[in-house]
Amino acid sequence: MTNTLDHWVSVGPINRLKREKRSIFRFQQKQVLLLWMNEQFFAIDNKCPHQGFPLESGSIDFENFNITCPYHNWSFDLISGKCLFNTACLSAYPLEIREGNLWIQMTG
Ligand code: FES
Repeated sequence: MTNTLDHWVSVGPINRLKREKRSIFRFQQKQVLLLWMNEQFFAIDNKCPHQGFPLESGSIDFENFNITCPYHNWSFDLISGKCLFNTACLSAYPLEIREGNLWIQMTG
């Protein structure tokens, strides 16, 4: 079930999201890739800004918090969403944990 409050949307229980490690959250027309790694959650667009392919099967650099698109190897910072090689950028969403649930701030 999804609840909204000032653009904050409940994604689900953190225990389930931690088990899944990678999951997709759909909200309106957007697909958000949720990642649990290094004891942190990250939320980014699941749509590569290069040619629009999904990032969900991209390889992750756990030390530098990057994800690399499996199609043409563009890499993105998981915190800022910025591409490491050019000016492209994807949305990286603010997250909060409230009473055992993960909430995401849907912007833009
Ligand atoms: S679609 Fe992601 S790098 Fe080309």
